[in-house]
Amino acid sequence: MKVRTCLQSPMYEGSVKLLLLGSGELGKEVAIEAQRLGVEVVAVDRYDWAPAMHVAHRRYVIDMMNPNAVKSVVRRESPDIVVPEIEAISTEAIEDLESEGFFVVPNAKAVKIAMNRIELRRFAARSLGLPTTKFEFAESPEEAVEACERVGYPCLIKPEMSSSGHGHTKVVEPSRKKIVEAYEYAISHSRGRSRKVIVEEFVDLSLEYTVLTYRYVKDGGIVTEVCDPVEQWRYGSYHYIESWQPPTSDPNTLRKAAEIGVRVAEGLGGLGIFGVEVFLTKDGRVLFSEVAPRPHDTGMVTMVTQELSEFAIHVRSILGLPVPKPRVISPGASIAIYTDLENVWSPKICGLREALEIPGVDVRLFGKPFTYPGRRVAVVLARGSSVEEALGKAREAARKISVEPSRGVRSGV
Ligand SMILES: Nc1ncnc2c1ncn2[C@@H]1O[C@H](COP(=O)(O)OP(=O)(O)OP(=O)(O)O)[C@@H](O)[C@H]1O
Ligand SMILES: [Mg+2]
Repeated sequence: MKVRTCLQSPMYEGSVKLLLLGSGELGKEVAIEAQRLGVEVVAVDRYDWAPAMHVAHRRYVIDMMNPNAVKSVVRRESPDIVVPEIEAISTEAIEDLESEGFFVVPNAKAVKIAMNRIELRRFAARSLGLPTTKFEFAESPEEAVEACERVGYPCLIKPEMSSSGHGHTKVVEPSRKKIVEAYEYAISHSRGRSRKVIVEEFVDLSLEYTVLTYRYVKDGGIVTEVCDPVEQWRYGSYHYIESWQPPTSDPNTLRKAAEIGVRVAEGLGGLGIFGVEVFLTKDGRVLFSEVAPRPHDTGMVTMVTQELSEFAIHVRSILGLPVPKPRVISPGASIAIYTDLENVWSPKICGLREALEIPGVDVRLFGKPFTYPGRRVAVVLARGSSVEEALGKAREAARKISVEPSRGVRSGV
């Protein structure tokens, strides 16, 4: 744990160097916040010109699951701070680097637990005793059938490791055939060679929260603070669609959600921000779902709502700088823009004129070099005098935006 009062210039002796393992849209915002403080930024990802690479001092393209590749880059660069920004990183590399003395954010154990649904349930439900959906683990089709029987229907089968809802199947009835198919589907979408899945009780959701919880250095120790929960709705899909702040739920529910955030972050330890995902079920239960030990996609809304965005909070915290709790200074909403286009290079994000004519609307284009179906390419952000107004503006703007193929040429130049 390093407390800082001074920062020097990037690219020269005495600079603070931050290395991003994963350089997507969230990493890009982290890089921008780091740049604002004169931090030297190195961006690493599996493909060239990933979003954060456009705003970094240097970049590397490597196989992120290859421990030797990850270690080779980190040792060569010898950064002060290693920031895992995605889940698909070799855990062996993360652990080895930490034991060599590198500061991995928030720490190697937290990164490893959070990327693995089975380890995360053991930690959250069994060690911390947090309320979660009912769950069972399975390692074969037969075990999956038994697990579904024990959990009941409907239930959800998910791979041990994956993100953005990949490999999830809802099983609505005790059909052996469907369970085996769901099991096979999950393991075919699992990162690595795992044959393990989790079977979760499928709950009727009333709302979802992302509790942005952060740990920073204060008075010589580390304290844990919580932002006002971000609320989000996914329309039954398994990925982020809309989020907003300030929260609209009753104070008691918000307090329970915030408590879960604090307990998870304190349990995982280290410095920086955690996106703690919490469910509110229709029967009034407040349940821990999972955690990302880093800024969260639904938290992009904080770029228009809070005094400090989740990215600024993360960067300040990991640098050892103070981070007083940011106030929500405007109601705001965010909507993610996805594309269904397959392998289009330099896609055209159109309708910007129409979207940006709406007062209070802003967009962030991630600048991803190519598309695949289901890829997120931009986010719409909107401020309003109320959450309803902000959401209305964001939806209207999102409807005007389209992602279109291009021949890769720049038009109008
Ligand atoms: N047990 C459940 N019952 C009902 N809905 C669920 C359940 N588990 C997950 N979901 C829905 O699916 C979404 C994605 O689930 P989860 O967070 O486990 O997957 P993920 O792959 O980590 O996705 P992301 O990266 O977007 O968080 C949840 O936000 C929620 O909307
Ligand atoms: Mg999730």
